[in-house]
Amino acid sequence: MSRRKKNIPIITGAEVVDIARGGKAIAKKDDLVILVSHAVPGDIIDIQVTKKKKNFYEGRPIHFHKYSSFRTDPVCAHFPVCGGCKWQDMTYEAQLRYKEKQVTDQMKRLAGFSEDIQDKIQPILAAEDPWYYRNKMEFTFSARRWLTPEEIVSKKQITEPALGFHVAGLFDKILDITECHLQGGPSNAIRNFIRDFTLEHGYPFFNIRKQEGLVRNLIIRTARSGEVMVILSFYHDDREKILSLLEAVKDRFPEINSLQYVINPKGNDTLEGLEVQVFHGKDHIIEKLDGLSFKISPKSFFQTHTRQAENLYRTILAFAELTDTDTVYDLYSGTGTIGLFMASRARKVIGIESVEEAVADARGNAALNHIENAVFLTGDTKEMFNDTLFRQYGSPDVVILDPPRAGIHPEIVEMLLKQLPGKIIYVSCNPATQARDMQGLLPSYTPKKIRPVDMFPHTDHVENVVMMKKK
Ligand SMILES: C[S@@+](CC[C@H](N)C(=O)[O-])C[C@H]1O[C@@H](n2cnc3c(N)ncnc32)[C@H](O)[C@@H]1O
Repeated sequence: MSRRKKNIPIITGAEVVDIARGGKAIAKKDDLVILVSHAVPGDIIDIQVTKKKKNFYEGRPIHFHKYSSFRTDPVCAHFPVCGGCKWQDMTYEAQLRYKEKQVTDQMKRLAGFSEDIQDKIQPILAAEDPWYYRNKMEFTFSARRWLTPEEIVSKKQITEPALGFHVAGLFDKILDITECHLQGGPSNAIRNFIRDFTLEHGYPFFNIRKQEGLVRNLIIRTARSGEVMVILSFYHDDREKILSLLEAVKDRFPEINSLQYVINPKGNDTLEGLEVQVFHGKDHIIEKLDGLSFKISPKSFFQTHTRQAENLYRTILAFAELTDTDTVYDLYSGTGTIGLFMASRARKVIGIESVEEAVADARGNAALNHIENAVFLTGDTKEMFNDTLFRQYGSPDVVILDPPRAGIHPEIVEMLLKQLPGKIIYVSCNPATQARDMQGLLPSYTPKKIRPVDMFPHTDHVENVVMMKKK
């Protein structure tokens, strides 16, 4: 029974009407707006308010009067504590509808285009395989397992360590995962084997608060070719324990063709600045997209949904309408995937990327595919995308923008307005910053084609591709 807290009311009979940015549901009761987790548009619910903000409340459902027809049974035993797939209780069709709406809402914010922008938005490109789609998963070892409310109530002393995912909002609590439905192949078996082996042999799991322990992180990357990369991260160099774990993993999973490890004494789990060492096999795996081969190293960025990455790159290529005289600038080029997709249709491709290892992979990928008209340069796009570069490689006819969530720097917008390439293709995983940046380009560009792509089923994330043409 939930107790009514002082000044924190219960709202009865609220209707869930929409989804907000960030994936929470929007419920309404009279003029009151309440943001709620784990509710689906169409539900009628009672809400325990947990926070009062100036213009809205936040809360959680405590009783359902009616369940929405958009609801479906979640397939995963870890739902909803694991925040990874927070839309798992919504049908895939409804997820797509709300992603499309998120893009439409953002694009409509573009001043001056609210009338006809809707006509330019093509239907969202759905994933054929909304399960077992991820090619990369990262699991954390922790001395402190997330306990269920029942375990806490039982007051038993439970100190069992965990290997799994961070519980949303808690940096030190890990939900132990026994089966994840996002990565196929041997991923679940590898993780569970490593957990059992390390527990059985008394390996201390990392305690991030106390900064002590040995085993701290596990990354599994898979490719459609069947290649598998495993990277284990340790807090300090306990040679004997490290080698005996790696040996056991190698023996149990002969399909792992890249088994690597790293000593990470840092405060965070990223591989940045660390030397990853090969214990067995190669230092990379290979993925193929539309006949092109791509080398994936421990530190390289690679789109996590391989099949949808192919669809995304095909969409970009179609939107670019390239001719063999076009000079293409691929800004934020990562491992060069987009640029290399375009190279056979363009005169030249110039990629700019700030992570040196990714640029090395991009160059390696160009060589691997015998592509000679693509160059990849290391640096900050803001510093490099300028007249000196254009004098060396030619003025841009087509510019691809695929920045991180924060979007592009205003100086890039300025440079584009000065250079005026014929087309700009803006690829983004954050339609809000994308709309903001597009607004800056509107004086000289018209959005012609827009297509959302679902790269992350069961989450609120959506990728969006926009083609803008010079006026
Ligand atoms: C969303 S990823 C796109 C990668 C690539 N286009 C792909 O499809 O695989 C964004 C990339 O931008 C790079 N990046 C971030 N800030 C940058 C900057 N200021 N200049 C150049 N690259 C940057 C990141 O390292 C990352 O590889």
